[in-house]
Formats: sequence, C-alpha cells, structure tokens
Amino acid sequence: MKTPCIRILKLQVNNKLSAINPSMINGNSLNNLRFSLQLIIFEVVDMKYFYSMKQVLFVGISLIILFTFCKPEVKEKEPIVETRRPDPHSFSRPDIAVTKHLELELSCDFQQKQIRGIALYDIEHKSADEIIFDVLHLNIDSIDLIDNRTAVTKASYKYIENDEVLGKGLHVKLNSNTKKVKIYYRTSADAIALQWLNVDQTNTKKLPYLLTQSQSIYARSWIPCQDGPGIRFTYNAVVNVPENMMAVMSADNPQKRSTDGRYTFTMDIPIPAYLLALAVGDFDFKPIGNRTGVYASSDILDKAVWEFADLEKMLETAETLYGKYPWGRYDVIVLPSSFPFGGMENPKLTFLTPTCIAGDRSLTSLLAHELAHSWSGNLVTNATWEDFWLNEGFTTYFENRIMESLYGKSYADMLSLLGYQDLKKTIEEMGDTNVLTKLKLDLEDEDPEDALSDIAYEKGKTLLRYLEERQGRADWDGFLKSYFEKFKFKSNTTEGFVKYLDEYFPTMNKGVRDTMQKWIYNPGLIAFQPNYDNSRFLFVEKQLEELLKKPGAYKLKTRNWSTHEWLHAIRKLPKDITKQIIPNLETNYKLHESGNKEIAFAWLKYKIENNINAKEIAKVENFLLQVGRRKFVLPLYESLMKNGHEKEAKAIFTKAKSGYHPITSNSVNEALYPRI
Ligand code: BES
Ligand code: ZN
Repeated sequence: MKTPCIRILKLQVNNKLSAINPSMINGNSLNNLRFSLQLIIFEVVDMKYFYSMKQVLFVGISLIILFTFCKPEVKEKEPIVETRRPDPHSFSRPDIAVTKHLELELSCDFQQKQIRGIALYDIEHKSADEIIFDVLHLNIDSIDLIDNRTAVTKASYKYIENDEVLGKGLHVKLNSNTKKVKIYYRTSADAIALQWLNVDQTNTKKLPYLLTQSQSIYARSWIPCQDGPGIRFTYNAVVNVPENMMAVMSADNPQKRSTDGRYTFTMDIPIPAYLLALAVGDFDFKPIGNRTGVYASSDILDKAVWEFADLEKMLETAETLYGKYPWGRYDVIVLPSSFPFGGMENPKLTFLTPTCIAGDRSLTSLLAHELAHSWSGNLVTNATWEDFWLNEGFTTYFENRIMESLYGKSYADMLSLLGYQDLKKTIEEMGDTNVLTKLKLDLEDEDPEDALSDIAYEKGKTLLRYLEERQGRADWDGFLKSYFEKFKFKSNTTEGFVKYLDEYFPTMNKGVRDTMQKWIYNPGLIAFQPNYDNSRFLFVEKQLEELLKKPGAYKLKTRNWSTHEWLHAIRKLPKDITKQIIPNLETNYKLHESGNKEIAFAWLKYKIENNINAKEIAKVENFLLQVGRRKFVLPLYESLMKNGHEKEAKAIFTKAKSGYHPITSNSVNEALYPRI
C-alpha cells in the first residue's frame, strides 16, 4: 500500500528526489504551495496515517486540488534555488553538518533476527540547525544530543523525504554547541543489508549466521548514517553476540572466539559507510602469511587456506605496483554460499563467496580484484555512484596487472579476453546508445543497482588499458602510483581524475585525450582492440573446429585447460548440433558434474538456451538451491524465463528464496514478476 503511494508522490515532484528543500516551503508562490502540500502528504505517508480508505480518499482529493488549482503561473519565474544534493543517493548534507567518528554498540538477537544498536557520532558543523542521516526501514527509538560540556539533551527529529529506494532523510535538530549525536535504534525484518541464516542453512549446522552487505546504499538499513561514498568517518564498535559465536567487521579483527560473546573493533582510518560490514557465525581463523589469513567454517577452512596460498604474494605484488598497502592486515572471510556477490572489499577483511574455491586455485583473480580495491575504492573512493567506474574500472585493470605479474601474460590475457567478450555482449544487449553504457553516469532518480553492469568494470578497464598502451607502461604506472598518493583517503570524481591526468601528462597527444573523453562521456564501445595475447584461446577454437567435424565422437585435447579455457569453449559452442555435443562433453569431461561453479553455471546456462529437457531442470534447481551468488542465480532464472520455463522458474524460486540474501531475492523477484 505504502509503496505505490510514495511512487506517485515521487513523480509529482517532477522526479527530482532531491528537490525538496525546507527553504522552499516558506515562500508564497503557487509553486511553493505545491511543494508545501506535497510535503504534508509525505509527512502523512511517513506517519503511517495512510492505511484506511478515508485517508486514501483524502490524499486523492488533495492531489486533484493540487493539480487542478495549483498550476504554477507561467509568467513569473522564481529564481531557481540550487537544491541538488551533493550526492543524489544520500539525503545527508555533509556541507552543512558531517559525521567524523562513530562509536557503535550492537546487540545481535538471532531469535528476533534483529540488531539493536546505539550509534554515537562525533559531528562537525558551524552552528548548523540540523544534521541529516540516511535510514532505510530502520526503527529509531530516540536521539540524544551531547554538547561541548558533555551535557545530554533529548533531540527533536523528523523525516522529510521518503523514497522506496533511498529510504528517509532523518533530520535531527542541533544546538549551536552540539558535538555528538546518539541514536538508539533497531533494525527491521526488511533490512536489505542483512541476511540471517538459520542453523540448518549453514555449513556446520551448529550455530546461526548473520552477514551484511552495505554497498551501494544499504548501510542505512542497519546503521543510521550519512550514507554517501564521499563522506568518511572512523569507527569503534562493541558487538554482543550469543556465546560461542565469532564476530568480525571491516576493522581490526579478533583471531580467536571470545568467551562471553562480546567483541570490540577499531577502524582508525576513515572509511565511507558502504564499507561498514559485520559477519557473525561459526567460523575460525587460520593465517596464510604475516599480514594475511582466512576466516571460514571448519569444513572449508583448510581448503580455503590451500586455495588462497598466494595471498601474501599477491599483497606484495600489488604493493610493488601501486605503493604501500595502507590498511595493516589483509584477511578474507569465506561466507556461506548465499553471499550475494563474488567478493566485497570490506577494508582489512574482504568478504568472499565460497564459489571461488574451485580446488585448483583457478578462480583467485577474485581475490586479486578485492585486494586491488584496497587502493582503488577504499583508498581513493568514487565521490558518488555516478563515478562508480573509478572504483570498479580501476580495480578490474589493477586486478589484471596483479594476475599478470604473478602468473604471466598469456594467463592474465585469457581473463581479460573473457571480460572483453562480456563487455561487447553487454553493450549489444543494452544498445550502444543507451546512456547507461557511458562511464560517467547520470543517476539522478536512478537506483544505483540499476546501473550495475559490466560497463563500469570492463569499459573502465579497457579505457585504462588504452591509456597504458598510448602512454607506455612505465609512465602509466608512474601516473597511477602518483594518483593513489595524491588522492589517498579522499573521494574523487571522474573530472578530478581527468584534471590530474592533464596535470601529469601536460603534453598528452590531443587525439588520445579526445578519445578518452569519448570513452567517458559517450555511450557504446570505442573502437580499440587491446593488445591481448589470445594464443591459449586460439588453441581452444582449433579444438572446437575439430569437434564440429565429429560432434558426437571427437575428444577435445584439454590437457592443462584451466577454468578459463573451458569457459571460452562453452561460450563458443555451436547452438545447432547440441544433441551430439552435449552427451559427448558430459561423458568425456563430466561438465554436468563440475564442482567448479563457474563451469557448472556456464554449462547449465548453455543447456537451458539449447532446449533443456524436463529431467535436466532438476539440475538447474539443485544449483539454484545451493548457490545464492547473484551473478549466477539471476541469469539462470532469466534464461529459464526466456526459454519457455517460466512455471519451473517460479516454482524453484518459491523453494529457494528463503536461502537467498535479500539483494539476490529482490533481483530475482523483479525478473520473475516484473512491475509494469
Ligand atoms: N564492490 C564490488 C561488489 C559490489 C558492487 C557490490 C556494487 C554492490 C554494488 C566487488 O568488488 C565486485 O566487483 N565483486 C565482483 C567480483 C569481481 C571479480 C568482478 C562480483 O561480486 O562478482
Ligand atoms: Zn569490485
């Protein structure tokens, strides 16, 4: 009920989520009257008065009056007030009052599936009237203000905006001498960042599990915060969990379980809210090197230590490329298979999917990727989600440089070629005039989720590859080192990057610079084929040619094939003679039994697209019940839908969704039941 009403209201404000500014309600023009009425309606929605037919009627009639009688006069235009917030996805106004440090106290209640929290913020402002936080489906119980003499008073607060995606702006009234704001709150069952797993959904089946995923704008669903990537603060936390459970955060972490379920954490380097993270469950720690180690449940801890044996070396390699690792330790935690992403670069502690444990160390580029974010993303952060490519494009480039240093060019280039294929396919599917295929995005009124695609990753990486080839690797590396040094612990915009590039390379060729501008501001792909070594894929393609001659009988020469050769082969398989090819590959290479989730996923998808029979759907179902990583799950559901298996897709989702993280299940839900 609430959602559609808010959507209508959102449209009324001319789709400008950011347009509501309290200063606008003081004037007396008809325009302002419109805004005032809209604000009243927002408040009504907010105060949950919107539940009976009477109220629906009241709002309906208000809307009719609003639009019939309150049309703005055309002749006299008010001067335009600059109302755009610095970040379209946060209601906060750090330019007016900003958070600098957070003291967090959390109690994790696994019975209620609720976190109860106290967030005490040190703030900075110049006698501001208010500070604004972001909250999404969060229950605020009370707020205190603490002044410069540590006196405590109750704060008054209200919500002004309310948006389905962004949540609400929590406006807390300040005194001129307020130094700290203390918020008492509880999470709700709708907290999208949180996944609570029951005991039977975990690996060891002994204790429940809680994991968070804050990027891009979900930190606000478990901590009230100024949730924009351009705002950084340090934090300490005390986290209370049931006895025997382990807890870790994006901070200095314990390596042993506490006896009383109480853990303390420190993150003394300022980070943006999207890097706040917590995991609580039945897992332990083992070291890999001096600065590196793994947390995982006992059944996979040793496998993970083996799989990630090169982690310390990776860290050293990254440091030689782009400067000293600034975060102290680099640990990783292998989460339950419902974790919605491959990895998440939570500082000091990367969160990882268990699907990267292939048993042959072939999927460790994921580690290189998350490690690379320690520089591109965590050290130098995209200012808003419109500059997302600065995080992911730089990281995808950097990831590949680490892989190349460790495992050689022909190996690293296979990874690049697969990524480049993904990029071409994505642009083909999205359309090469689609504005979402630009690197610099305009996300005003857009959910940052909707802009998440291969563009930021692969188009971003290819641009950096282009610049590397044009400027020469040595000079380019010099630039990158200096870029990270110059912007460390700051956020940066695309324009800030270009400006620094201009300063660093004052004599850059004009053609190269113009092309770069096109990469950034134009949609589609810019013609440029990076100088990748494709010898290993050429061999695969030769083998496929032979297979075509005898599809039912030819035995591919697959000795030394890594996951990547297999992925290339599956992508290149013909679509018309599958009846012979599928049994051949399943009998000889057991592709249908692969424990490697990348291969299993690619194979299942190929089969769905090529007339899978009813018996085989059980295998898809099995996969979808085991894995919650959205990159695998969503395309499989979409493929089922596109290929005439809508009924089966919906039935599988009904069974599987209680095991998915809300981020995954929301996306699948939208694919299966699209809103008109
Ligand atoms: N930071 C991202 C994950 C992310 C991006 C979460 C945007 C929410 C919003 C992470 O570093 C990432 O890119 N993960 C990839 C792995 C990578 C190897 C491409 C993933 O999860 O697939
Ligand atoms: Zn990433």
